[in-house]
Amino acid sequence: TGPIIKLNNGVSMPALGFGTFANEGSKGETHKAVVSALNAGYRHLDCAWFYQNEEEVGSGMREFLSSNPNVKREDIFITTKVWNHLHEPEDVEWSLKDSLRMLQTPYVDAFLVHWPIAAEKNPDNTVKIGANGKYVIKKSLTENAEPTWRAMESLYTQGLAKAIGVSNWTEKGIETLLSYAKVKPTVNQIEIHPFLPQDNLIKYCLSQSIMPVAYSPLGSQDQVPGTGEKVSTNKDLNAIAEKNGSTLAQVLIAWGLKRGYSVLPKSSNPGRILSNTKLITLSEEDFAAVNKVAEGRKTRFVNMKDTFGYNVWPEES
Ligand code: A2P
Repeated sequence: TGPIIKLNNGVSMPALGFGTFANEGSKGETHKAVVSALNAGYRHLDCAWFYQNEEEVGSGMREFLSSNPNVKREDIFITTKVWNHLHEPEDVEWSLKDSLRMLQTPYVDAFLVHWPIAAEKNPDNTVKIGANGKYVIKKSLTENAEPTWRAMESLYTQGLAKAIGVSNWTEKGIETLLSYAKVKPTVNQIEIHPFLPQDNLIKYCLSQSIMPVAYSPLGSQDQVPGTGEKVSTNKDLNAIAEKNGSTLAQVLIAWGLKRGYSVLPKSSNPGRILSNTKLITLSEEDFAAVNKVAEGRKTRFVNMKDTFGYNVWPEES
């Protein structure tokens, strides 16, 4: 369902993907959501080692495939990501292999560096937290991600990932990465919605043939600090949905697709999972109206500065 995007290495990726991050999700929730999503027609699943639910994604996918013999694993685009404490080359490889085991697949379609920071790890393979309650940053590997990227490239060459890329990276970080990359990143997965339109980063990525992929395209359910505003209750956005006889989610998905990138709505509700695949097209007038709401906004709902103790986006402070 929806348009297909050609990545810079020739791999095809459905523009509409299903986000599997389940914040405090109950056991079995991701399994059910993945079965619903595949039944609804999604053929792109966005996962991560950090989400701690890849076994459920794997079992959901296997359940769907066994009851739909006309659909093959190769028909589904699966992304996973390496977490911050696994940036040492041998850990990058371990991370992907652990994800492959949990996802019950011999390869992923895209493997991403989840954040542009490397953190220390504990002997038990958990993230080391410092006395200040924040991640202990591995400074040298954060400042120079070349060893991490070399490991990503090797996994790509081995065919364990059909594409490699990054997530939450800035223009500056990508520029540095491009200076030593033998294999160019195919995507940069970032938060994008009308309260964080990311015009400059999108423009930069597209100019480098790096496909932006939008997480939280529905603007999450969070409130703008200070004003308490939400994307989901914005009057102007809801008026556009009403005018189209659609849901607001459908407007937001259409806005992202019209801007030319991939979008990853997530839901655990079967009705909403399905309705989010019913794509609408925005008229130029409605597209402009969403752009007007977005103009000048810079609200990030996913801000890990406090968790990491590291400023991932120095440009913004
Ligand atoms: P639910 O799982 O109850 O459907 P984002 O990806 O921007 O963070 O947004 C995810 C949130 O949006 C989830 O809380 C999800 O809740 C909600 N959501 C997903 N689809 C829709 C929809 N069509 N209408 C309203 N809320 C939605």
